[in-house]
Amino acid sequence: MFTSHHINRFSNIETPFYYYNTGLLSKTLNALTSANTYNFHIHYALKANSNPIILNMIKNHGLGADCVSGNEVLKAIECGFPVDKIVFAGVGKSDKEILNAINHNILCFNVESIPELLVLNELAAKQKKKINIALRINPNVDAYTHKYITTGLEENKFGINPYEFNEVESVLSNCNFLSLIGLHFHIGSQIQDLTPFKNLCLKINELNKWFLHKGHNINIINVGGGLGVDYKNPNGSQIVDFDSYFKVFHQFLEPLNRQQIHFELGRSIVAQCGSLISKVLYIKKGINTNFAILDAGMTELIRPALYQAYHHIENLSANNLEQKLKYDVVGPICESSDCFGKAVFLPETKRGDIIAIRTAGAYGEVMSSKYNLRDEVKSYFDV
Ligand code: LLP
Repeated sequence: MFTSHHINRFSNIETPFYYYNTGLLSKTLNALTSANTYNFHIHYALKANSNPIILNMIKNHGLGADCVSGNEVLKAIECGFPVDKIVFAGVGKSDKEILNAINHNILCFNVESIPELLVLNELAAKQKKKINIALRINPNVDAYTHKYITTGLEENKFGINPYEFNEVESVLSNCNFLSLIGLHFHIGSQIQDLTPFKNLCLKINELNKWFLHKGHNINIINVGGGLGVDYKNPNGSQIVDFDSYFKVFHQFLEPLNRQQIHFELGRSIVAQCGSLISKVLYIKKGINTNFAILDAGMTELIRPALYQAYHHIENLSANNLEQKLKYDVVGPICESSDCFGKAVFLPETKRGDIIAIRTAGAYGEVMSSKYNLRDEVKSYFDV
């Protein structure tokens, strides 16, 4: 929620920029840790936001790091995440990325295919180090979320399918430099209904037993991330219900032989603490609508253009909040998809007004680009 203090401050900073409320991030992290009464191991998915100030706060709350590129691994190490709390996932790890991670002795590689097993074994042998791996398994559980952020179905490129398990076993029996310590799952992102997580648990129980019967010593069950946030009501639901989320796993997951349960949460930790702050450049009359043309565009926040994602838009400068008009809120980029919201009701909006695009802390700044030779987007924090 923004006050006149924020508006005064924002009017003195060149727009557009990301603004992060670290007070809210702290509260969210506290809520997360107090909901975790089950001794779950929580990793933060750096891909959601890798701003060093944010990473530092998350690390100080004792979370580990879930990385999906060599540079994310390096960033996590640079920010002080202990290497034995860093995992490295991704369908296309390059040799350079793998070697770097091997040399840093990270906790585990989450392996996404049989060819990757062979490459990991070869590179680990070259370094004369035995490395830990978890198999990323495609559980074929529907997350009922946007098709671009569903990951746990057979048609997706991620993970190893159960029908490949026998082959995995025979490949592994020849991989002396790999130690299988975990099973990894992730069914998708922005999942608000908890039922898919329950279905995931039931599927994991089945697969976990298969590995136990085959004599594998699996210590870690990694259930991924994916917990969704409320984009419609950023002020009303600032912190997600971590209690109910963890309860589902406590209730339905059956760890065997004191297996550790690991999570990889991204969005639910950082989404609500970030807003994209922008100014109105022009109000242009259209046939059925007015266009509010902002100085921020899809180069700063691509989610609406890429996934038709909803972000709540607020005019922070408007005085008369009663009377609302309809606007298409668009950016300056030369693409018709550069639109933050169609037919958005806002108080009468004029050139120079400050606009906040909310719930932009996850997959916002990290997905920004320099298309149209735009300036790199800056970020500010509450003081
Ligand atoms: N673990 C794995 C293996 C993942 O692929 C992801 C996200 C996460 C954890 C963290 O998921 P979260 O808790 O943040 O849902 N750019 C898209 C989201 C892509 C998510 C990719 N994977 C968006 O803006 O909605």
